[in-house]
Amino acid sequence: MTEQQMRTRGGVMDELLEKAFDAAVIVDREGRFVYNTKGSLALRRMAPEEIAGKYYWEVNPDAKFHTTLESGRSQLGVVDVVEGRKCLVNIFPICCGSQVIGALSTVLFKNLTNLKQIIAKLPDAYGVEVDNYNTVSRLATSYTFADYIGESPAARDVVQQCRLAAQSMRSVLLIGETGTGKEILANAIHAEVNRRVWTHCIKINCSAIPDNLLESELFGHEKGAFTGAQTTKIGKFELASNGSILLDEIGEMDLRLQSKLLRVLEEKEFERIGGTRLVPLKARLISSTNANLRQLCREGKFRSDLYYRLAAFEIHVPPLRSRAADIPLLVENLKQRDQLAFTLEENAMNVLTKYRWPGNVRELRNIFSRLDIKYRGQQVSGSAVQWELEQSIDYEPPTAQTQQTAMAGLQAAAYARMDALLERNGHNVAKTARELGVSRATVYNWLKKQKNCKV
Ligand SMILES: Nc1ncnc2c1ncn2[C@@H]1O[C@H](COP(=O)(O)OP(=O)(O)OP(=O)(O)O)[C@@H](O)[C@H]1O
Ligand SMILES: [Mg+2]
Repeated sequence: MTEQQMRTRGGVMDELLEKAFDAAVIVDREGRFVYNTKGSLALRRMAPEEIAGKYYWEVNPDAKFHTTLESGRSQLGVVDVVEGRKCLVNIFPICCGSQVIGALSTVLFKNLTNLKQIIAKLPDAYGVEVDNYNTVSRLATSYTFADYIGESPAARDVVQQCRLAAQSMRSVLLIGETGTGKEILANAIHAEVNRRVWTHCIKINCSAIPDNLLESELFGHEKGAFTGAQTTKIGKFELASNGSILLDEIGEMDLRLQSKLLRVLEEKEFERIGGTRLVPLKARLISSTNANLRQLCREGKFRSDLYYRLAAFEIHVPPLRSRAADIPLLVENLKQRDQLAFTLEENAMNVLTKYRWPGNVRELRNIFSRLDIKYRGQQVSGSAVQWELEQSIDYEPPTAQTQQTAMAGLQAAAYARMDALLERNGHNVAKTARELGVSRATVYNWLKKQKNCKV
């Protein structure tokens, strides 16, 4: 399809998109809306002129178009939250030759409750027993603890703390550098509760929404509350009733709104802007930040009384460099998850574990998708990995100390993992090497070194 065809389309194509799906959206390669079906506009409660020319993240920061636009891969059955509803969507790349020129998202179920009803009918139709609640709940939340990959003590510890926090309905504050998996853990905490009762989990990025709009996003507004408030809008706190609200980048919230949030948390009720009716606060708050909130409190940029309210459970998510022993496992997982097809030479693994990873797992994932484009089906050397790392926007040269601790941790973990896989694979070295994401020579090399250590 050409760019022109994508933008103009034909009557039949629009008709098909309208009829075949609850909603459908096309964005161009920059992520700007090209087309929204009537169903999509209704779902977003927006008029065509309100959405025209906007980037998708301005309207729906949770949408996952960027993954398809960057990788050119389809995503099937991903959960997208639109106006507080969990929708099941497929996202497909639109290509002109080998170039990705846009993406098409089709909404299969605009409300997962519909899917729940369908699944509820399955046992009768197929004579199988289906655990309805669990099936849908798992679909309804994007992540569970199983998605947080890591077996190092630091990783196990953070998961255990999150599990503990999940058992209570008190506020949780996740603090950690960018790309460390805060979003996975926040979702997993919600999913843990969700296993019992299906509830909404609504995310809002405090830094992505201008301060004057954030208040109405959070608490909603009545019709006519301010210029531009043409309809009544239900806020995220109300939508997340009985469920969870994820406040991402909480450190970016302005002081005025911090005061309002504090009042709401203390009184456990709020009003929509311009409203008179009190709405009880029933959502559990999970906030996350990569800022040093204590420091911000000392500088007077964050209210310390709010900080204590938010941090009934304060959980520090470890950076990747402090759990470098997990890198081989992450490599294995990312290769499967992102369908990567290259193998790493032993020295490549060394380079990965010595690196400081300022962008953490996100950076690791990015580097891998770049390597996959360049070296699909090939072996990747340490120098190729090093070169790729140096191109990273986050690149920082390694220090002697990170090198030492990373190496010691890595070796023990890599050997343990190799032993376990060899055992499981009946000592098939080729299969084990494939699963570890390293070459056969590396496995032989590790076995030799391990033997030498034992002697
Ligand atoms: N422990 C992990 N296991 C598997 N994947 C992970 C892990 N941690 C992070 N990732 C991956 O890294 C990327 C970033 O993770 P996530 O969005 O959860 O980070 P974050 O801490 O919320 O970052 P930010 O502060 O920038 O919002 C995602 O692609 C996620 O899947
Ligand atoms: Mg995040």
